[in-house]
Amino acid sequence: MTTKIIMDTDPGIDDAAALTMAINDPALDLKLVTAVAGNVTVDKTTANALKIVNFFKQDIPVAAGAKQPLIKPFEDAARIHGESGMPGYDFGDDYGEPIAKSAVEALHDEIMAADEPITLVPTGSYTNIALLFSQYPEVKDHIKEIVAMGGTLSKGNMTSAAEFNVFTDPHAAKIMYDSGVPIVMVGLDITLKALLTPDTLDKLATMGRAGEMLHDLITHYNDGDENGHPMHDVNTIFYLLHPEAITTEEMWVDVQTEGPAMGETVGDIRGAYHDGKTNAKVCVDIDTDYFNKWFLEEVSAIKD
Ligand code: BDR
Ligand code: CA
Repeated sequence: MTTKIIMDTDPGIDDAAALTMAINDPALDLKLVTAVAGNVTVDKTTANALKIVNFFKQDIPVAAGAKQPLIKPFEDAARIHGESGMPGYDFGDDYGEPIAKSAVEALHDEIMAADEPITLVPTGSYTNIALLFSQYPEVKDHIKEIVAMGGTLSKGNMTSAAEFNVFTDPHAAKIMYDSGVPIVMVGLDITLKALLTPDTLDKLATMGRAGEMLHDLITHYNDGDENGHPMHDVNTIFYLLHPEAITTEEMWVDVQTEGPAMGETVGDIRGAYHDGKTNAKVCVDIDTDYFNKWFLEEVSAIKD
């Protein structure tokens, strides 16, 4: 039994690792990749998604999406992911083209054509998802769940309150969280715990073509310290495959779109504001050792 997924992404080094797992794990059936502006501009995130798909010799369609957030001016994260978004490895120049359809059209067509509800996995800002829900609200009934990297119940990584993907396009995040589609919030509460350790990183270098590629990218990743690197986006795939290794709590998540708390994801942990209703399962704890072990197992299972 495979889970059909679509990844909406902004590669980005941790996005590249998440795509690697999604492409190669036989329990997942990756139907479409859509790109969004985030870590770098959308022309670069689209090219980077194509580079990963092509690296694994797949013909999964890649569609280019939003160039900028709905309202807020675009700010990239090149200081973390480098000017290209995926530095440190030479993917060559021949990595194919995106499909002619826009991300929103491709998402609509793939979701409506699927013979079962599909799982959306956004690992960048949620601009494409918000545009999709605004233009084609009927897709909501055909989505099983959204497993989204982003947000935090505690401290942010852009402001004291806001995580990068939500901060990049808070208005889109609000549309997604208010959509009624079940959401799993894979936020900094777990992604800053599940560090890829220096030992795991060293081992990757010895694990064939895919391991070398990931090792070379991650050694150019400006997020982390001597304790390891947070592989934020990979936690979405880990959740899909090993939900038993992650603790979740159901609550309502509100997204702030104004002022100094812009991009904050406020969890109604006491059920005080929404009559006991919830709109998200929020990931609050993770088995870090198992995450590292799983990461290496996934890469070692990839055939050269
Ligand atoms: C998120 O921001 C991006 O830089 C990463 O790719 C991840 O999606 C972490 O806050
Ligand atoms: Ca990302």
